[in-house]
Amino acid sequence: MPDLFDPIKIRSITFRNRIGVSPMVQTSSLDGFADDWHLVHLGSRAVGGAGLVITEATAIQKNGRISSGDLGIWKDAHISNLRKIATFIKKQGAIPGIQLAHAGRKGSYSSPLNQNGLTELKPLSKSAGGWETIAPSSIPFEKNSSLPKEMSIKDIKNVIESFKDAARRAERANFELIEVHAAHGYLLHQFYSPISNQRRDIYGGNLSARIKICLEVAENIRSVISKNIILAFRISYTDWLEDGWNLNDSIVLSNELKKRGVDIIDVSSGGTSPTTVAIAKELIEDRDKIKNKSLIPIEPGYQIDASDRIRKKTKIKTAAVGLINSPEIAQETIDMNKADFIFLGREFLKDPYWPVRAAIKLKQTNKLSIPGQYYLAWRNQESFEFSGYKL
Ligand SMILES: Cc1cc2nc3c(=O)[nH]c(=O)nc-3n(C[C@H](O)[C@H](O)[C@H](O)COP(=O)(O)O)c2cc1C
Repeated sequence: MPDLFDPIKIRSITFRNRIGVSPMVQTSSLDGFADDWHLVHLGSRAVGGAGLVITEATAIQKNGRISSGDLGIWKDAHISNLRKIATFIKKQGAIPGIQLAHAGRKGSYSSPLNQNGLTELKPLSKSAGGWETIAPSSIPFEKNSSLPKEMSIKDIKNVIESFKDAARRAERANFELIEVHAAHGYLLHQFYSPISNQRRDIYGGNLSARIKICLEVAENIRSVISKNIILAFRISYTDWLEDGWNLNDSIVLSNELKKRGVDIIDVSSGGTSPTTVAIAKELIEDRDKIKNKSLIPIEPGYQIDASDRIRKKTKIKTAAVGLINSPEIAQETIDMNKADFIFLGREFLKDPYWPVRAAIKLKQTNKLSIPGQYYLAWRNQESFEFSGYKL
């Protein structure tokens, strides 16, 4: 039975444990550049014991950003700052990962970070630097978002080429895992979901046409990166809508991605429709309402069973994510072979040392080394022996 703190090897890369920092936008970039914030934010989670640290959604095209504050990798000039981050993460013993993303119709928003903290994303007007969004079909995400341009075949080829260029840059920046963001209602998800894709050409219609772009992105990225680089896809396993994308579709997609050299499916959900996004937000913010709503059964670990199904049906490695808010849930998921990795979002925002505290709680400190610089702080933790002190 594997444990949360057991190492895992994929291709030639060994992760020191199964805990990953889930991608989380920081909306703190200017012109897509990573800066000191990103170094300290991601670096401290590597210091804190994560096995894998993934950057936020990193735009492969300038017009592929969600908001003007997103991180980017659409030009060579972005590489150097990103390399500094990946190199630091690696030096701390974690595997550096990067999430490559294109927002499609869910783009051209103003950066939501202001002095009052995070506010709602607001559409960015053209005069304030907004851009024309693109999508498989010309259907806006919500009433007040701009009407996206329906992509031509040339636009589709162009996006695939940009994913490929971004992957090349990611490897040059020393990342060892590339995760393609194909979830949460962003561009690639817009293609595979029948809700947002109403094309009638080779990229729309039946399921195999709707997933075509994902498969081409996977093939193209695999063709330019080294053999040892790990390729992951984050998918939304369901749209939570009656006529939408569902778990069985996700099993088909995962199988096809696996054939094209994808190593891990990161199993998330939702994001296609503003109704489900609004409900999810409401439920997360007010746990009491969970009992009264049935559309999305949000509760701790609510996406784990989908990870289990995809893993068992396709024999691909999976990451489980979503309200995994205790070391026990994480440990049980790994123990029961429902996932190979546990990705944590908000728990890591609250505490970069989540892995250390989890190891103490689960009595697995003998499997985790901690920074030698912090030895004096942790050495008196009850009677637990850490496996070592890393300098
Ligand atoms: C501040 C914040 C930013 C996020 N940004 C991204 C992102 O860039 N890409 C992505 O795939 N998911 C993003 N997510 C979703 C998280 O990766 C994660 O899937 C979600 O928060 C559920 O996990 P949790 O319950 O452990 O937070 C974000 C979540 C938060 C809270």
